[in-house]
Amino acid sequence: MSKLLDTIRDRRSDRHFANKPLEADTVEALLDAFRWAPSSNNRQPWRVLIASSPEAQRIFDDALSVGNKQWAPPGALKMVIIGVPEEQPERNGLQNFMLDVGMAMENMMVQGYAMGLTIHAMAGFDYDKICKGFNIPANAKPVAVMAAGYRGRVEDLAEEVRAKDLKVRTRKAIGEFTYRDNYGAAFK
Ligand SMILES: Cc1cc2nc3c(=O)[nH]c(=O)nc-3n(C[C@H](O)[C@H](O)[C@H](O)COP(=O)(O)O)c2cc1C
Repeated sequence: MSKLLDTIRDRRSDRHFANKPLEADTVEALLDAFRWAPSSNNRQPWRVLIASSPEAQRIFDDALSVGNKQWAPPGALKMVIIGVPEEQPERNGLQNFMLDVGMAMENMMVQGYAMGLTIHAMAGFDYDKICKGFNIPANAKPVAVMAAGYRGRVEDLAEEVRAKDLKVRTRKAIGEFTYRDNYGAAFK
């Protein structure tokens, strides 16, 4: 198997982070992976807001869902991933900017894993708190927040959170989502 497929398959959304900040060039590499994602017509309808100052980090932490607050790491890089819908027209009634932003997020997550980091995307956040706290204008939509950092010790997590990180990762089998010739028809 190719090394890339191994990396894609092994990448995981861990919750145990070390309390050690990422170096500037590591952050740059993550952002570089993010920006090289494909997007429809190469419109790149994304922004990344890094919560850096103590006040920005407080806003970020406060906006997390109750579940995410249980593990959100103090030393990690905290990012708000934002899409700008007007920069990517809807197609077939679908919000295509979401597709582009999602691809860029995955690029970053795979790159981070390949560098030995752990990166966790979160949809569990308070939208209004994030918009208000970071002065995000109405035409820009925070679609996810992310934490990136060095891997810590799973033993240091609270018990219920630890169980999530120790759970075996699974995926649907290829035949469960791949069809041939007709929707619902078996692939093989
Ligand atoms: C867009 C997005 C939002 C997510 N939101 C959360 C979240 O709010 N809290 C959380 O613990 N995990 C969140 N996750 C992580 C998923 O639960 C995780 O990707 C999934 O269980 C598969 O596990 P894996 O990433 O380790 O393969 C999110 C992942 C994505 C891609």
